[in-house]
Amino acid sequence: MVRMADRLGKVDLSDVRRMFEASSESDINLGLGEPDFEIPENVKKAIVNGVENGFTHYTSNRGCIELREEISKKLKKDNSVNVDSDSIMVTTGASEALYIASQGLFNKDDEVLIPDPGFLSYRACVELAEARSIPIKTSLDDDYKMRYENVQDKISSKTKAIILNSPSNPTGAVMDKEDIKSICDLSVDHDFIMISDEIYEKIIYDGKHYSPARFGGNTLLINGFSKAYAMTGLRIGYIAGQSLMIDEILKVHQYNTACVSSLSQLGAYEALKSSDRYVEDLVKEFRRRRDLILGGLDDLGLECGEVQGAFYVFPKVKNATFYVKKALEAGVVLVPGKGFGESCEDNVRISYANSYENIEEAIDRLKTINM
Ligand SMILES: Cc1ncc(COP(=O)(O)O)c(C=O)c1O
Repeated sequence: MVRMADRLGKVDLSDVRRMFEASSESDINLGLGEPDFEIPENVKKAIVNGVENGFTHYTSNRGCIELREEISKKLKKDNSVNVDSDSIMVTTGASEALYIASQGLFNKDDEVLIPDPGFLSYRACVELAEARSIPIKTSLDDDYKMRYENVQDKISSKTKAIILNSPSNPTGAVMDKEDIKSICDLSVDHDFIMISDEIYEKIIYDGKHYSPARFGGNTLLINGFSKAYAMTGLRIGYIAGQSLMIDEILKVHQYNTACVSSLSQLGAYEALKSSDRYVEDLVKEFRRRRDLILGGLDDLGLECGEVQGAFYVFPKVKNATFYVKKALEAGVVLVPGKGFGESCEDNVRISYANSYENIEEAIDRLKTINM
């Protein structure tokens, strides 16, 4: 038996995939985190043109300059953040951005504050860099919002960074401006880095998105094209921050993937240039589904708190693992909460990235469950 690296013992494969593999075609899948929409038409055309015109070679490691300039404009316009194109790197999805930022920044035994509940990759990326993840617990009673006070309590001399994610996967919570500003102040006082995962930035129904990068401090801003433009399979995202940090993280990126697919970069450029209408329609449809699922779960007595963004709800359920099993028997795929953090044993994650009709049918099926 080959002895694998010890650090792999600390991470596991995601339950999202496992649930997907356990399901059959007739099941309604409310487990996956990807929009069920086609990519924008103009993006499709740009990629086809790219193939026909031979835009199929390596690009600069950092990403095409035209795309980085467009990202720089976007950050200024949408987020009031000033970063020039040299301080932006195009990555293979936000996933790669999270991984290379972790590899580039963390040393053994550094402490990294992560949201709990929070996206599965955060703990894994921290552990794979041999750092220690410190959960910042948020509660359903407070709509799962990460608060400044909870963060302050967890800071130590070893705190290297905090990962913020607003709107949140898996809770749909959107952080308040005051908390973001105060956490920025804390990061300056205690000299730690903020890694802000803003991939659900556009999918917001109530409240407003604020990037911590606009309030000073040392922020690495991560975003991508998977959610707002449904470009999951094209694997493209980016990371922006101080050029000194980006230059160092570039080393990990270079030896990891060299550069992102040239065609995906073309598509992302086109998405930023002219897909505002597409995003508006996508958000409108998600809002309809959010209202539907919240109403249905309320009838079932499952409380989710205020859900202001992203496309997930994270209700508490008695005996969550058993509930997920019963849901699967009834033909609905859900994801058990436990993978999303220490405090999530009694939750299930439900994604509403499925059609309105399927969500209606899924709720009817959940109503048949006897616990
Ligand atoms: C919070 C969060 N960050 C990052 C990602 C990764 O996205 P990408 O497809 O850009 O790698 C996801 C995907 O589900 C996510 O939910």
